[in-house]
Amino acid sequence: MKLKKKNGFFITFEGPDGGGKSTHIKLLAEFLKKKGYSVVLTREPGGTALGEDIRDVLLDPRIKNLSLWSELFLYLSCRSQILEEVIKPALRSQKIVLCDRFTDATVAYQGFGRKIDIDLIKNLNGLLVGEFKPDLTVLIDIEPETGLERSCVRGGKVDRIEKEKIAFHRRVRNGYLDLSKKESKRFLVVAGGDSLEKNKAIIQKGVLKRIKDVLG
Ligand code: TMP
Repeated sequence: MKLKKKNGFFITFEGPDGGGKSTHIKLLAEFLKKKGYSVVLTREPGGTALGEDIRDVLLDPRIKNLSLWSELFLYLSCRSQILEEVIKPALRSQKIVLCDRFTDATVAYQGFGRKIDIDLIKNLNGLLVGEFKPDLTVLIDIEPETGLERSCVRGGKVDRIEKEKIAFHRRVRNGYLDLSKKESKRFLVVAGGDSLEKNKAIIQKGVLKRIKDVLG
C-alpha cells in the first residue's frame, strides 16, 4: 500500500546501546507490512554496500586509534550514502522508511559522548539532510549499565563503541533525553527496561497515531 502523502513517512529508532531497538524496529516492520504498508527497513551505520563496509571499521573493537574526526566523518559518510541510495528514493516512492539510528545518534554519541561541539554536529547533519527530519523518532531509553549488560548477555561481541567507559554512555543517554525534551512532538520515548510486549504495543499504537496525524 502506498501512502497518500507525496513524501512517504520516515521513522527512526534511537537510544543507548542494549535497549532492544533493533528487535523493536523489526517487530514494527512486520506489523506495518501486515497492515499493508510498503516498508523499507534499514540502518545506520550501514544500509548500503559502502555503509556496511564502513560499519565494520567503525565497530571493530581491534581499531583503537580512530581519531575523533575520522569517526565523525565516517558516520557522516554512511549517512550521505544511505540518504541518496535508500532513504530518499524510498520516500519518493511513498514508502514507510524505518531507520535504525540517524542524525540524533551523531548528536548523542559524537556530540554529548565525545564532546564535539553540538552546533557543529547539527550543522554537519544539516549539510547532509537540510531541513529534512524524521516524522517520528522512537527513543528506547535505558540506563547504560543495564543496556550494556544486556548486550553482553545477548552474546554479541562487544563492539568499539560499547567498549567505551560508562561515563561516555551516561553522556550519550543524557544527550538523547535532552534531544527528546527539546523536540517532544517528534519523539516517542519508551522505557527499554519494560517488557517487550508492553513496549511493542506502545510503539505500534504511537506509530499508527502519528501516521494518522501527519498523513490524515
Ligand atoms: P548499532 O547499530 O548496533 O546501534 O551500533 C551502532 C553504533 O554506532 C552505536 O554504538 C551507536 C554508534 N553511532 C554513533 O556513534 N554515531 C552515529 O552517528 C551513529 C549512526 C551510530
